[in-house]
Amino acid sequence: MIRTVLRMGDPRLLQRAQPVTRFDTQELRELLRDLRDTMAHLNGAGLAAPQIGVGLRVVIFGVRSNPRYPQAEEVPDTVLINPLIEPLSGEIAEDWEGCLSVPGLRGWVPRPARVRYAGCDEQGLRFERTVQGFHARVVQHECDHLDGILYPMRVRDFSRFGFIDALFPGEPLPLEE
Ligand code: NI
Repeated sequence: MIRTVLRMGDPRLLQRAQPVTRFDTQELRELLRDLRDTMAHLNGAGLAAPQIGVGLRVVIFGVRSNPRYPQAEEVPDTVLINPLIEPLSGEIAEDWEGCLSVPGLRGWVPRPARVRYAGCDEQGLRFERTVQGFHARVVQHECDHLDGILYPMRVRDFSRFGFIDALFPGEPLPLEE
């Protein structure tokens, strides 16, 4: 079911989400189905459970090749539950981000360039990946939602924060996270 995505200003987006303790439940399957339906409907790159008002440590993300965004890096379709993220060096990368909870805006966000992340899939099986580039950015963005952090809180240069159509006139709308 397509759910309403909460927008910045809703206090539920600022809460710390709780770990999932039981896997293979109807509740978790329905949550994942709703996250997928909602993300696909909005053409998003990722979505976190708190964005649809569910305070659990569950995120999904994934980007397939898209002729509208020839430069977008592919990211495998991923369900990540109870994640942990560890930066792998002091190197910081900066790039534009958007968010389905902050519609119409983009900001220039510094984040660790390479990270290792671990967590569980929807069956509760643990997995781990070492990533960089857009994959590293999107997983950090989504997991921030589990701690009540929205990307504008990480913007440092507010001359690079604004409305998409004003920042990038004439360009196709970018993917949002
Ligand atoms: Ni977001």
